[in-house]
Amino acid sequence: MKIYFDCAATSKIFQDILLSMERVFKEYYANPNSIYSDGQKSRQLIEESRRNIAQYLGVEPEEIIFTSGATESNNTIIRGLAESYPEKNEIIITPIEHKSVLNPVKFLAKKGYKVHFLKIDKNGIIDIDDLKRKISEKTLLVVIIHGNNETGVLQDVETVSKICRENDVFFFSDVVQTICKEKFDTEIFDFISVSGHKINAPKGIGFFYKRKDIKLTPLLFGGGQEFGLRSGTENIAFIKFLSDAIHEWDTDNDDKVKHLRFLRDLWEINLKEAIPDIHIVSEQAKRVPHISCIIFPQVDAQSMILGLSSRDMAVSSGSACSSGTPTPSHVLTAYGYSDKEALSTLRFSFCLDNTEEQIYEGIKRVKEVFESLKEFY
Ligand SMILES: Cc1ncc(COP(=O)(O)O)c(C=O)c1O
Repeated sequence: MKIYFDCAATSKIFQDILLSMERVFKEYYANPNSIYSDGQKSRQLIEESRRNIAQYLGVEPEEIIFTSGATESNNTIIRGLAESYPEKNEIIITPIEHKSVLNPVKFLAKKGYKVHFLKIDKNGIIDIDDLKRKISEKTLLVVIIHGNNETGVLQDVETVSKICRENDVFFFSDVVQTICKEKFDTEIFDFISVSGHKINAPKGIGFFYKRKDIKLTPLLFGGGQEFGLRSGTENIAFIKFLSDAIHEWDTDNDDKVKHLRFLRDLWEINLKEAIPDIHIVSEQAKRVPHISCIIFPQVDAQSMILGLSSRDMAVSSGSACSSGTPTPSHVLTAYGYSDKEALSTLRFSFCLDNTEEQIYEGIKRVKEVFESLKEFY
């Protein structure tokens, strides 16, 4: 039995979307920027998708800007804001952001921006008092990841939003791991970023939400598509698939989220029983329903991944993007874990089509690999 527990890295495209692909590509091939009827048909599909996503989020259609995914969205927001509001040159972020947030912020730091990292506690929760101390009239932006992609920990974004509004500071949250899985009020944010492939749409499509009265300098200049914020001919079909995926997640959403949480809890309770030495990261904190981050003391996570892979099971260590490199995850070291603990950590992330049977079988395989590796250490 193949077991895929890596849905925080990427998820399978919904079956109905897969089946509709040929038709959508054939029917909506014309350039949406052309004024003849087929072009306008493509345009209508994009605008209908935009309206659907905006309605789902409770915002206005012109506040949704399609991009290739969260990396592009995060870069556009951070670099674009800096360009548009040069009078403010301080940024406050958490040390547990995704690299697609950290690296554009580091880029700005090299240009002279002052970057404040918020303190987090042992569960990965940010220190709100630290935010109150660090925010000032020089702060351009506060960036707080809503649900962390490695540990799943959720932040109190409502309180952060209030503090940002009181101080007239922009608030941006990467909601890649929480959209469709956690309920939130989009209006508390000034910006959010989303990647389609984490919610069963294809890779290479995503969007960001930008409150409409905020200025933003684009990363790409060209034909002025997406309200001038993201030039380039639109990916018509993928925009529709993203809207369809959100619609599918929204259908019986409580049941879907309940299923993920059930699998995650079943996994953790039984894994702890099978291997009592494990440590569950952020266990005591509010977490997204689909992520379980586990330290397996004294074994190397890369060897665990390979051992599990040879048993037809796919999991991650830290974030997928850095899986190839055996450097300790910046997220886990920010929590205060040692490099050794960070290098012994696996992330299991569950998908809608995972089953109870896979949970029990997965635990058996993990126990086998863990015990075979422990003998070497
Ligand atoms: C929280 C978070 N933000 C941003 C990204 C980047 O998404 P993409 O690679 O689709 O651009 C990811 C993907 O791992 C993520 O988990």
